[in-house]
Amino acid sequence: MIESLTVLGLESSCDDTAAAVVRLVDGSTPQILSSVVFGQSELHSAFGGVVPEIAARAHAEKLDVSVRQALDQACVGLDELDAVAVTAGPGLIGGVMSGVMCAKGIASATGLPLIGVNHLAGHALTPRLTDRVGYPYLMLLVSGGHCQYLIVHGPQAFTRLGGTIDDAPGEAFDKTARLLGLPQPGGPSVEVEGRLGDPKRFRFPRPLLDRPDCNLSFSGLKTALMRLRDQLVAEQGGLTRQDRADLCAGFQAAIVDTLAEKTRRAMKIYLEETPDTPVLAVAGGVAANASIRSALEEVCGEMGIGFVAPPLRLCTDNAAMIAYAGIELFLAGAHDSMTLSARPRWPLDQNSPALLGSGKKGAKA
Ligand code: KG4
Ligand code: ZN
Repeated sequence: MIESLTVLGLESSCDDTAAAVVRLVDGSTPQILSSVVFGQSELHSAFGGVVPEIAARAHAEKLDVSVRQALDQACVGLDELDAVAVTAGPGLIGGVMSGVMCAKGIASATGLPLIGVNHLAGHALTPRLTDRVGYPYLMLLVSGGHCQYLIVHGPQAFTRLGGTIDDAPGEAFDKTARLLGLPQPGGPSVEVEGRLGDPKRFRFPRPLLDRPDCNLSFSGLKTALMRLRDQLVAEQGGLTRQDRADLCAGFQAAIVDTLAEKTRRAMKIYLEETPDTPVLAVAGGVAANASIRSALEEVCGEMGIGFVAPPLRLCTDNAAMIAYAGIELFLAGAHDSMTLSARPRWPLDQNSPALLGSGKKGAKA
């Protein structure tokens, strides 16, 4: 048995530059020795979304600083590492390239093994880092860029049961906030505003619930919200605070109901595998939403399945998840060479068909 394995992880696929050191002790217990994250929200706030070129430059400027800080905080020298793991996709290509080049530089200077990690595998393996959940478990990944149900069988074995055919839920929250003049990121603003609202005043659609599969669609919700907003503005000349709160509450209730029902369907498929200790785990920034969390917890209770929600700092983008995925890949014998390339598209489950709306080049993730 390997006594100890220490891996440096790098993450730069979207708008967070992150580095972390994770150690596996006694062959089974992971410890996060450090986890440094430099966010870029203020660089992009004026543009209403992440600007890829600005993100790539900021990653290039911050990667070496984050590596230095991660090593210092972990009190670990480069000579004490066993490997360097890096997000090699999917994501914004300039950012992913910055991370891959940085990791290659470290690997070639030190002779350390290089391990390219799929960003989504990082999220999907987080419940093993935080709660040592056993395979196979069901994962719901809900973030600003992604939404999918996965059965996680191993560090390289995923079955995608379904996902969004258009917007991710976080994207829908962000667009809703923009339409109502609330601050970004939209998820927390809409959640707070909606607490004062009546979720039943406005009727929002529950998209794709008429179909038996696990696919989701969120883009229609923002169109419905825009129509309701414009109608109120036309009738009253503007929105009251109560209108805004009711719109937020109604929008959020539609997302909660849709996710709860599709989760029930995903669980039925997962339970056919008769796992010893069935678990639903969540990851991604949207998992911070209290109503979504409690709805999922309730569904788990109904179906007799355990519920695992890692702490928020490990649900959102970070490099500890990449270092940990690197550890599992290392133990599975997966190494990369200096030809490792950055991949803007990299579906976790290569066998499942591309979802509608995933673009001409096929599934992004
Ligand atoms: O996972 P994440 O940090 O970044 C990526 O998308 O990769 O997720 C960010 C998303 C944003 O869209 C944000 O609005 C959403 O998560 N979010 C929330 C909440 N907190 C963050 N959505 C709903 N409710 C929340 N409380
Ligand atoms: Zn992510």
